[in-house]
Amino acid sequence: MTTRRFSWTLALLSAWVSGTSCAGSTPSEATAADSTGDSAAAAASFTGTLWIPPALSGTTFDLALAKATKSLRPGALTNTYGFNGGDFWGPTLMVQKGDDVHINVTNNLPEPTTTHWHGFHIPANMDGGPHQIIAPGQTWSPHFQVKNRAGTFWYHPHLHMKTMEQLAYGAGGLIIVQDAEEAALALPRTYGVDDIPLVLTSRRFTGTNQFDLTASFGDYLLANGVIDATVALPAQVVRLRILNAETERSYRIGFADGRTFQVIGNDGGLLSAPVPETNVTLSVGERIEILVDLSKEPVGRELTLQAFNGGLGASFPGGESETLGEAGSLLNDRTFDLLQVHVVAATPGALTTVPAALVKNTYWTQADATHQRKLTIVESADGMLFTFDGAGYAMDVINQTVALNAIEAWTIQAGPTSGHAFHIHDVQFNVVARSSGALFSWEPGWKDTVFVPAGESVTFVAQFADFASFTDAFMYHCHMTNHEDGGLMGQFLVTPAP
Ligand code: C2O
Ligand code: CU
Repeated sequence: MTTRRFSWTLALLSAWVSGTSCAGSTPSEATAADSTGDSAAAAASFTGTLWIPPALSGTTFDLALAKATKSLRPGALTNTYGFNGGDFWGPTLMVQKGDDVHINVTNNLPEPTTTHWHGFHIPANMDGGPHQIIAPGQTWSPHFQVKNRAGTFWYHPHLHMKTMEQLAYGAGGLIIVQDAEEAALALPRTYGVDDIPLVLTSRRFTGTNQFDLTASFGDYLLANGVIDATVALPAQVVRLRILNAETERSYRIGFADGRTFQVIGNDGGLLSAPVPETNVTLSVGERIEILVDLSKEPVGRELTLQAFNGGLGASFPGGESETLGEAGSLLNDRTFDLLQVHVVAATPGALTTVPAALVKNTYWTQADATHQRKLTIVESADGMLFTFDGAGYAMDVINQTVALNAIEAWTIQAGPTSGHAFHIHDVQFNVVARSSGALFSWEPGWKDTVFVPAGESVTFVAQFADFASFTDAFMYHCHMTNHEDGGLMGQFLVTPAP
């Protein structure tokens, strides 16, 4: 599958480069090269140019979610959801640490939704969880101060039992937090040029080109909503901000030529120093930022970013051997392409080196924790339903109560057959232990989502600071949206000091 052919034209390339060379280019510019569907175009027309979501910046943001359609395959259009008139996914919100931001989210769907700011440290009633419902035709206007460090975050629906469906239709977007510490580093940060957002998911299609929402694993990879995506990258150090926005699949990400890249950040921001790797596993909801050195590559060189998902066994999400049925997929248990890279000329002032050090982080350790908590994931007999400690999610039940400012160690124990992508709202944590032994090399750092393999446990430490309430709860859940919708979710109050 690395033999997929591409026909590049200079016109397409320069249209793409000019259309995205300034952050904030309009959606129509950014999608121009991506809109196909004319009968003269051969099958290759559905192999698209990577769409770069338009960037919005400032302190007031307007988002409107509505039904849309997108040409994803020859024949019928696919029903989708998009923000702000887009045909899948939404704009990237660029925010500055310390700013007070106001967001107006209008729900133009014919059904309720919510919009959650994944990874943000904000008050529970601004969080956009299952309680902050936006009725059809209504606008929800949360506001909060950006307290997170520079990093890659995202927004998505969180309506109980509808998260999988609404996200699968395309209701989501990225948030990039910028701050002075990050700005002081020599890192690529020209959005859409040397700083590329890459949202990975996959879908199965019905015979009429609609998303098959019964599938936990898609058959076709979508990179920023584009099948068989290609991107033009300049011959210099480039940054990829990768989000796993899947239903269930993990991605073991690397380059086809086995080249080393540098991991510079994960969910909650930059690491203390780059970590060299040839592949990194990203589970649902996790983000990673990597630097790839293309400065020695000749213009015209083609590279392929792939998922090395073969031979990992059925406990790896997407490692299942079947190709059909609820857990089957044409992408299961194999290596497949994520993104084709076409190297173009370097930009003026191109970066050609990777900084040796990044930002100063002081992570919590096990010894800092003053309270221990353990959550055990219980599997139903048929292996299809999961709960925390045997209790499914109920909107009016508080499952955990944490004292404001407590530093706690939470241990998540997975059941024997299925791994899970555990996510907690409000905090960024540091993973301190895996029952299987060592942590992944890029894992120490501020995170909000962590993969817990079948039969294993993971312990993290976090402080629950700043925001307390006797009434408004934060969520914790598996980010595999089918598991979450099925009840693998709980909620906690952070209560004020007496
Ligand atoms: Cu990304 Cu509770 O969510
Ligand atoms: Cu799960």
